Amino acid sequence: MDLKALIRDIPDFPKPGILFRDITTLLRDRDGLRYTIDFLAQKCIDLDFQPDYVVGMESRGFIFGAPLAYKLEAGFVPVRKKGKLPAAVHQVEYELEYGTDMLEMHQDALHVGSRVLIVDDLIATGGTASATAQLLEKIGCELVGFGFIIELEDLQGRKNLPDVPIISLVQY
Ligand code: PRP
Ligand code: HPA
Repeated sequence: MDLKALIRDIPDFPKPGILFRDITTLLRDRDGLRYTIDFLAQKCIDLDFQPDYVVGMESRGFIFGAPLAYKLEAGFVPVRKKGKLPAAVHQVEYELEYGTDMLEMHQDALHVGSRVLIVDDLIATGGTASATAQLLEKIGCELVGFGFIIELEDLQGRKNLPDVPIISLVQY
């Protein structure tokens, strides 16, 4: 299936000069949504990831991470922006285009040796995914790989990630 045909390009969002890859048009397409999750799951199976947990990042990482976890018979763990999670958290600072922000994960969500797959809708600079990997490192999890729907190759985000397999379904 041609996933690019289902991803909408919006010029000048959120700022002039940025061509935003909009996945809402993919999500609303019943065949496209099913194909995307099934395709990502099959790649994870082929790479023998066998995760105990899928970790997805707020907010679009939740949309793909939870159904992927279901398909892989893993649990799902959310990484959220600062101040949203109710129990004790681990925190990591990450770079935004202007300044920094904080990502958080519950301290008791994962354990030493848990096999974890990190999933998000899109990798741009890799800042979000790299920060999430740092959260897993604090706990001593085994990071088995990364899964993205979209990779913006010009930004070379994968160079900022640890040396584990990285799946992307569509590249721009
Ligand atoms: C977007 C996207 C990724 C991240 C990628 O999320 O969904 O999480 O940016 O960029 P990076 O590789 O340069 O870190 P955003 O922070 O806009 O949050 P949202 O999903 O809540 O819109
Ligand atoms: N689309 C969606 N999310 C993004 C993009 C984009 O082009 N760049 C950074 N986050």
